[in-house]
Amino acid sequence: MSDIEQAPPGVDVTVPSPARMYDYILGGSANYAVDREAVKKVRAHMPDLNDAAWANRGFLQRSVRWLAEQGIRQFIDIGAGLPTGNNTHDAVHAVAPDARILYVDNDPLVEIHAKALLEGVAGTACITADFRAPDGLLGHEVTRAMIDFTQPVALLLVTVTHFVSDEDDPWGLVRRYVGGLVPGSYVALSAITSDRQVSEELGEVTAVYARSSSGGGYPRPRAEIERLLTGLEIVPPYEGAPAELCYIGEWGAEDPVAADSDGSRLGYAAVAKKTA
Ligand SMILES: C[S@@+](CC[C@H](N)C(=O)[O-])C[C@H]1O[C@@H](n2cnc3c(N)ncnc32)[C@H](O)[C@@H]1O
Repeated sequence: MSDIEQAPPGVDVTVPSPARMYDYILGGSANYAVDREAVKKVRAHMPDLNDAAWANRGFLQRSVRWLAEQGIRQFIDIGAGLPTGNNTHDAVHAVAPDARILYVDNDPLVEIHAKALLEGVAGTACITADFRAPDGLLGHEVTRAMIDFTQPVALLLVTVTHFVSDEDDPWGLVRRYVGGLVPGSYVALSAITSDRQVSEELGEVTAVYARSSSGGGYPRPRAEIERLLTGLEIVPPYEGAPAELCYIGEWGAEDPVAADSDGSRLGYAAVAKKTA
């Protein structure tokens, strides 16, 4: 059967999708030929791509476990991707079985896939919504039913803001989401950076994403990523580290020196608290 015949209704297999590309990078099977071709093109110009993706998964898992240990019981995971394994709810529920996790993605396949994966898992749900449309996302009936905005929330923005163009103002969007959270809430964020990358190579990579369903990829310098967390208090990423952004794989690492790989250096990560 061809990809077109196999694909669920509403899933376009003629255009690569960042969610399905990421699934392929992580060794999943929820991807199509067009996604695999796109990943091969990206990898040709970004050889540490797989390492970066795994470093990022490590950040996600360690940061949400830490947040659960701080007492956070509500998580909104925006740009959740195609759940592969060791997802947010797995890490959180290992600490706090009563916690609620709302997965959000604008790729329709994510919700389809999540329905099967999350069946019977209490305290979880997945909706299709766009980070760039906060009113729709926050006003969604599932969000409203599941998240109590009078209590602290962890907002997870793990490798999603680099799919948002400057024109769509990711800084203003984060401000809008954080504005609706009570003090004691957190943001966990990672993003691919343009720092230390050869601009011609990066140009080839962003050209692949420009032809994907996201319409673009926007790696940013450190200061522009840090600016997403304006007004929040960044927590030290590991013991003895200053309270600032770190490379993706270093966050929460037991051995930050060993975690400091080339792939890890493709992006920055931070967890930051809303204190007032
Ligand atoms: C690289 S994956 C990250 C998955 C997961 N957060 C992780 O870090 O392991 C990026 C995800 O963001 C999603 N995404 C991109 N733009 C988005 C938007 N505007 N709104 C919601 N999701 C978006 C993509 O569909 C994809 O699933």
